Amino acid sequence: MKIFDGNISLQVSEFLNSKLRNIDDFIIANAFLLKSSGIINFFNNAEDFECLKNSILEPISRVSDPDRTEYGDFQTNFKLSLKCVSIINEVYPNPDILIEPTSGVGNFIISALNQFKNLKYIYAIEIHKPYIWETKFNILEYFLSNKEQLKPTIEIIHYDVFDFDFSVLAKKHIGENIVIVGNPPWVTNSQLGSLNSSNLPQKSNFKNHNGIDAITGKGNFDIGEYIVLMLLNAFQKSNGYFSLLIKNSVIKNIIQLQKSRSFTIADIKSFSIDSKKEFDVSVEASFFLCKLNSEPEYFCSVKDIYKNSSSIREFGWVEDKFVSNLELYKNSYSLDGRSPLVWRQGIKHDCSNVMELNKNDNYYLNNINEKINLEEELIYGLLKSSDLKNFVIDKTRKFTIVPQKNVGDETKYIEKLYPLLFNYLNKNKDQFDSRKSIIYKNKPKFSIFGIGDYSFMPFKVAISGLYKDYNFSLVLPFENKPIMLDDTCYFIGFDNLEYAAYTLVILNSEEVMNFLKSITFSDAKRMFTKDILMRIDLFKAANNFPNSRLNRELNLLNSTFNLSISLEKWDNYINELLRTNDKEIQLNMFNRNR
Ligand SMILES: C[S@@+](CC[C@H](N)C(=O)[O-])C[C@H]1O[C@@H](n2cnc3c(N)ncnc32)[C@H](O)[C@@H]1O
Repeated sequence: MKIFDGNISLQVSEFLNSKLRNIDDFIIANAFLLKSSGIINFFNNAEDFECLKNSILEPISRVSDPDRTEYGDFQTNFKLSLKCVSIINEVYPNPDILIEPTSGVGNFIISALNQFKNLKYIYAIEIHKPYIWETKFNILEYFLSNKEQLKPTIEIIHYDVFDFDFSVLAKKHIGENIVIVGNPPWVTNSQLGSLNSSNLPQKSNFKNHNGIDAITGKGNFDIGEYIVLMLLNAFQKSNGYFSLLIKNSVIKNIIQLQKSRSFTIADIKSFSIDSKKEFDVSVEASFFLCKLNSEPEYFCSVKDIYKNSSSIREFGWVEDKFVSNLELYKNSYSLDGRSPLVWRQGIKHDCSNVMELNKNDNYYLNNINEKINLEEELIYGLLKSSDLKNFVIDKTRKFTIVPQKNVGDETKYIEKLYPLLFNYLNKNKDQFDSRKSIIYKNKPKFSIFGIGDYSFMPFKVAISGLYKDYNFSLVLPFENKPIMLDDTCYFIGFDNLEYAAYTLVILNSEEVMNFLKSITFSDAKRMFTKDILMRIDLFKAANNFPNSRLNRELNLLNSTFNLSISLEKWDNYINELLRTNDKEIQLNMFNRNR
């Protein structure tokens, strides 16, 4: 049964019906309901009061709920909210004040009333009016069934959380014991952008990313993250605990930010949940908990909310290095440095329908199954993340058009030299012109990114950025041309096979794999990025690599893939890495001295 679009139980509707029938003034009704439920201003005005009285006579059953995607609306089920509150209860059993920043239908509030018996004040903020009603009905129902329990004063505030000044509450209750608990919206600013939604804080570039970061996606942020930062800013000096159900990516960002912000939080924990089971979504998320008003700590210990076991791992800062597993990192930190060879991301074109091709005997098929005849010169084999499973790759199932040798190169030459290709690209001009990213603005026609001399190196060592199970692959030329990679992959280019093979063996070694395990987050959207890969100190890893093992690995590679790589160029390789390392150090010193 629903009233004002909020669910209401029979018990509450009968109670309201019988008690309000003979009351005509909403102020008197409010005074009566304050006594029964603790809620201040149950009705905001006389109109609300009259409407409710009329509605409970004829409760409406609604058929469908509105689309609330822009509000990141995933209501926490009661069992999970009870579990989360019990976790707080273990470390902080007797709070005075409870704050639910985006309270939905109020399950966290009911769970808190269940477990914190001495609460004096509860504040809940929510933008969706039907949820405000439902929360009020739920609280009323709770107290109808728990008549003896002490009633805190409860304010359910219909407000936009982004406009709410939490510092007023922090000041009002300074010195009291506060618990902040809830589950902020699960939506990102770019999702809101595509929904044309304004459910955003006014200052959306809130972490002050520069323009380029904003373009490349680092400026994309989760609304939940904004809310966490708002709350930490307001309450970090309050006594108590801060806890929210949030995406793991948000938790990771908070710990990362902790280095520069030094929020006064400690005892930082995250309890991972099964989001598929709890919310029917495929997002890694956890219940995040920390103690406020403490000497800042810079790491988070990870547990499983369903198991009573000790922590699975700790992640966070070790001096100026951010690591995903402190314990593993202890044994592999020596490889944490800077790669003397530069890792590159593959080609980005945002036009796969036109630019990606499959090959048949004497024609190509594009991604929308159009049959095309093209000159071969600008077409190269292409590997995508899912193709990077083998240790050695010498052919591709896909092809791509590479119209430029370097970013920004003019493409007018294509019309004269490759008329078939030009006609094909020109026919699909609209698809290029409709690319949204501003990196393509004012660039030559059919421009691509992630292209340079390195792309045309014949040998590459590559890895996918996307997969939890990973290995490095040696990529050899195909049909006498270098193979290209797409922008989900990262690689180092080489002009000789030996150097590429040595690099492959070192990167796939147990030592490097353990190091990577200690700094990568398997729940990240992109587990590998250029920043992560550039941390592998290839010189150190190579220099420490025993020759006998290297020999064994190369022999295995040779026999499995029919290659003939010897150790002849090993010393040159090491010297080259050392030289590049020195150059890098000098360059850094030079930059620092300027
Ligand atoms: C993930 S749900 C969680 C609700 C509740 N905290 C719970 O745990 O069940 C997020 C809630 O945030 C509310 N919300 C979204 N945008 C909001 C805004 N700008 N101000 C206040 N509440 C908002 C939604 O209506 C929704 O109820």
